[in-house]
Amino acid sequence: MCEYDYSANLLCWYDNNARTLPWRIAPNSVSALPPDPYRIWLSEIMLQQTTVVTVKDYFNRFIERWPTVHELAAANDSDVMAQWAGLGYYARARNLLKCARIIAHDHGGQFPNSHAALLKLPGIGPYTAAAISAIAFDQPQTVVDGNVERVMARVFAIQETLDIAKPEIYSKAAILTPPIRPGDHAQAVMDLGATICTPKSPKCENCPWALHCKSKQLGIAHDLPRKRAKPAKPTRIGYIYVARRTDGAWLLERRPQKGLLGGMLGWPGSDWSAKPKDTPPISANWTLANSEIKHTFTHFHLRLTLCTSTVEMDVTAQIGTFVPTTDFNRTDLPTVMRKAYDAARPIFRLD
Ligand code: ADE
Repeated sequence: MCEYDYSANLLCWYDNNARTLPWRIAPNSVSALPPDPYRIWLSEIMLQQTTVVTVKDYFNRFIERWPTVHELAAANDSDVMAQWAGLGYYARARNLLKCARIIAHDHGGQFPNSHAALLKLPGIGPYTAAAISAIAFDQPQTVVDGNVERVMARVFAIQETLDIAKPEIYSKAAILTPPIRPGDHAQAVMDLGATICTPKSPKCENCPWALHCKSKQLGIAHDLPRKRAKPAKPTRIGYIYVARRTDGAWLLERRPQKGLLGGMLGWPGSDWSAKPKDTPPISANWTLANSEIKHTFTHFHLRLTLCTSTVEMDVTAQIGTFVPTTDFNRTDLPTVMRKAYDAARPIFRLD
C-alpha cells in the first residue's frame, strides 16, 4: 500500500468514527466553520500530560468563562490558577496566561500559523506547535503523542524500546502525513490510538489498518511499544498545617511561582524531603492526625503528616493569610491540598 493510501483508509474511518470533543470540528460537518485556534491551543495545552476524559470539563469551564484569548489575557492570575486546580502540572497554567497575553498584546489576538512561530510562545514545544498548526491551520505537520507512538510502533512492528525507537516512529509518522486534510489525519491517528489501538486490548478487528499491520501479522501487537523499566520513585515526607480560626476562616498561602505547585493556593507546610523540619506557620496547639495524606507526583511519592489547630481571632500568622469561609472554595486547591482539606474536615467536626 502506498503511504497516502494509509491516510485515505484512515480518513474514511475517521469520517465515521471521530470522537465528539468540545474543541473539535466534526469531519464533514455541514456548517463547517474553520477551527478556532484559541480553542485548539487551549485544548492542546490541557491535553499535555492529561487524559481527554479529564480535560473535557476543564476545557468547557475555561471557554465559558474566557471565550476568547483577549478575555483570558485580561483574567487575574489567581482566577486562572483556581480554574486549573486539579489538572496538575501547574507550569502549564502559568505559561497559558503568559502566552495568552503575548497573543493578545503583540499579535492582535491572532495565533501565528507556522510551527516555527508557535514554538517561540511560552508553553508550546515541538509536539504542541505541530498539533496546533495541523489541527487549527491544516498544515502538513507530523503530530506524535503517546497514542501515535503506539500506533506506529505496532503498524510497523518497531521492536526497540520507546526511548530508542522515537526517531524511527517519528519518521514513519511523517511518511504517512498527507498533503490533504493533514489536520484530520493527525486527529484520526490519535483517535485510532485512543479507541482501537489501545494499550491493553487492541480491537484489531475494527482497525482500518489491520490488513497492513506488521505487529498483527506477527501476533505481537499487545507487546508493543516496548518500554524501558522505570526506576522506582522515592518517597518524601513532610508536615502540612491546616489551621481554622474560630470564625471559620482558613489559613492558606499562595505558593511561590517557581517550583512544584507554583502559584497555587495551599496549606502551609514543611519542606518535602527525607528529613523535613517541623515549621508551623503560627504558634498554636497542633494536633497530629493518625493517618497520613498520600499523593504521588511524577518523580516521587509524598506522605504528609496532617497537623490541625483551631486558633483564636487575635492570632497573627507568620506565613499565609486567613481566608474567610465565604471566599474559600475547595476546588481552588490542587489535588494534594484537597486531600488534606478532606482529611481535616472531620477533625474540625465539619461533616
Ligand atoms: N490528544 C491530544 N490532542 C488531541 C486531539 N486533538 N484529539 C484527540 N486526542 C488528542
